[in-house]
Amino acid sequence: MKTIWRNTILRWLIGLAACITIGLVLGHLLAVVLLYVLGTLYWQFYQLYTFHHWLRHSGRKAPPETSGIWGEVFDSVYRLQKKQRKSKRRMRQALTRIESSTAALKEGVIMADNQGNLEWWNNSAAHFLGLMRPVDRGQAITNIVRNPDFFRYFSQKRFGEPLVIKSPAKSGVYLEIQTTLYDKNDHLIFIRDVTRLHLLEQMRKDFVANASHELKTPLTVIKGYLETLSMFKDSLPASMQKGIVNMSDQSERMEHLIEDLLLLSRLESNDKREVDQWLKVSDLIQAIQKMASPILTDQHQLTFDIPEDARLYGSFKELYSAFSNLVVNAIKYSPDGGEITVMWEANEFSGVFSVQDTGLGIEPRYIPRLTERFFRVDKGRGSKTGGTGLGLAIVKHVILHHDAKLQIRSQPGFGSTFSCHFPASRIRTDAFALESDTEALKSSD
Ligand SMILES: Nc1ncnc2c1ncn2[C@@H]1O[C@H](COP(=O)(O)OP(=O)(O)OP(=O)(O)O)[C@@H](O)[C@H]1O
Ligand SMILES: [Mg+2]
Repeated sequence: MKTIWRNTILRWLIGLAACITIGLVLGHLLAVVLLYVLGTLYWQFYQLYTFHHWLRHSGRKAPPETSGIWGEVFDSVYRLQKKQRKSKRRMRQALTRIESSTAALKEGVIMADNQGNLEWWNNSAAHFLGLMRPVDRGQAITNIVRNPDFFRYFSQKRFGEPLVIKSPAKSGVYLEIQTTLYDKNDHLIFIRDVTRLHLLEQMRKDFVANASHELKTPLTVIKGYLETLSMFKDSLPASMQKGIVNMSDQSERMEHLIEDLLLLSRLESNDKREVDQWLKVSDLIQAIQKMASPILTDQHQLTFDIPEDARLYGSFKELYSAFSNLVVNAIKYSPDGGEITVMWEANEFSGVFSVQDTGLGIEPRYIPRLTERFFRVDKGRGSKTGGTGLGLAIVKHVILHHDAKLQIRSQPGFGSTFSCHFPASRIRTDAFALESDTEALKSSD
């Protein structure tokens, strides 16, 4: 590079020296030098013009032949152009490959900006959601998928868990939506057809619900006969008396199990949900207190700390089932001398219902499994206390329905605390305004 500049300047200086000599010989130094400078300027302009013309019009053609510094400029630009064209071609090929592979995916893929406006999608996504190019480009995804669950999922950015919804475009198709945020909080949305899984799950739920329902009638008959037999218990031999007591206990247990299974099925099928209302937490607790008093022994101390004006938005029946199971568990799993505290605490961010006991406690490894159906820490302990292991599964579902979170803290030998954290939108503390709601609810119960 340096050499070419040195040569160019040298050539120009030699030319200038020659012109000066000729000028001196001819006696017109100034005129000859001026002519030389003008000639050089013309040459430079001419090369600039050729360069500009080549850049604008000749496209992929090789640059015109020229020597010196201008030849070097032409060659460098031509090389750069060729390199750029090559990398552009490579990028285009890569993009086409990505596009054709995502288009071939069975899963739907959507790219949306940080506001949720659609930017790009593959064929499967178009098929699942009924998207049309180019009309839907730039549309908000919540305008296309008009589903309240999806709206809540997307606007509140609940992307931790996948969401299952009905396809807005294909009837009878269920879709699982999974969203990941990338770059500047843009959305990458994956859509999977889970119709088969959904139907299988539905079949399982229906089977459990139907079987439980069908078991109710024969059990009622058995219980009826057992009650009649119990009335004449004294006239029966001692061995039969024991048998009748045992059968009565077991049929009670079975009834409890069936009721829990039916409640779980109801909770799982969202369609059969009750309408949420503003409830007085103290009313709920009063009902629980009434239910708990027969199973409470003199050896247990049960304390309630519930403010009178605490309000919670939810279903009375569901919350009653959940809270009562927590209180009954605390009683069941606390040996004599145990202290149980039932509390409601609220601040501007959340409302917390908690049940604290000084009972047996639970080992940390069991805590994540407590809300599984039929899970009991100690099966022996469970059968003695008559538990079926469905209580906390019911609590989990109720908590989910109320946008709440269940927290379990426990130390074996020292006791446990089960707390339900409700969001601010579901709690209130005004004492008077909602009196009528609760009264109406109580009378309807
Ligand atoms: N407060 C507690 N202290 C110690 N262990 C507990 C407590 N609450 C629950 N557990 C353990 O968790 C298990 C699951 O509780 P869950 O309420 O689901 O079932 P259950 O009480 O056995 O039966 P069910 O409630 O259906 O009658 C219990 O069997 C018990 O081992
Ligand atoms: Mg229980």
